[in-house]
Amino acid sequence: MLVKSLLSPNMKKGLQKSLELELYQSNLWKSLANQMQRLGFFGSQKYFLTESAEELTHYQIIVEFMNDMGDCADLPKIDAITDKVKTIGDALEIGYEMEMEVLNHYKKFYHEADEDDCAVGIFLQQFVTIQVQAVGHYGDLLAKYKVAEETKEILEFDEHIND
Ligand SMILES: [Fe+2]
Repeated sequence: MLVKSLLSPNMKKGLQKSLELELYQSNLWKSLANQMQRLGFFGSQKYFLTESAEELTHYQIIVEFMNDMGDCADLPKIDAITDKVKTIGDALEIGYEMEMEVLNHYKKFYHEADEDDCAVGIFLQQFVTIQVQAVGHYGDLLAKYKVAEETKEILEFDEHIND
């Protein structure tokens, strides 16, 4: 027999939305990597490719959790990426906004889970932590980029973006 899903419809909906955001982010970083390569910023290209792969590990963590809860993740349709960038700074700003949006999603979902199902709430804590670190990291990169812009050391910034 197949075990019955332990997820309420609302918790399943929130987890599906989380999957969608992780996959969208993965595609967004791939698009930014492609655009960085086109502009000759190969350090940033590598950086965004690594970021893209990391989102897929987040996606897989959610898939495993849904399976543990006797459910099965559905693969959502992912919106096309339309953001166009001309500088590393543009890409970092998009990155910051995206991570913030995902942080807000997990914060809101965590509150819902707190009322509905503490197993989901406890699971989501790691994602709130990951997102806080991601927002902080992009904030740091934006600050560092601003300095590099002023001192005209963009290529050096690009080379060391992963440090
Ligand atoms: Fe993620």
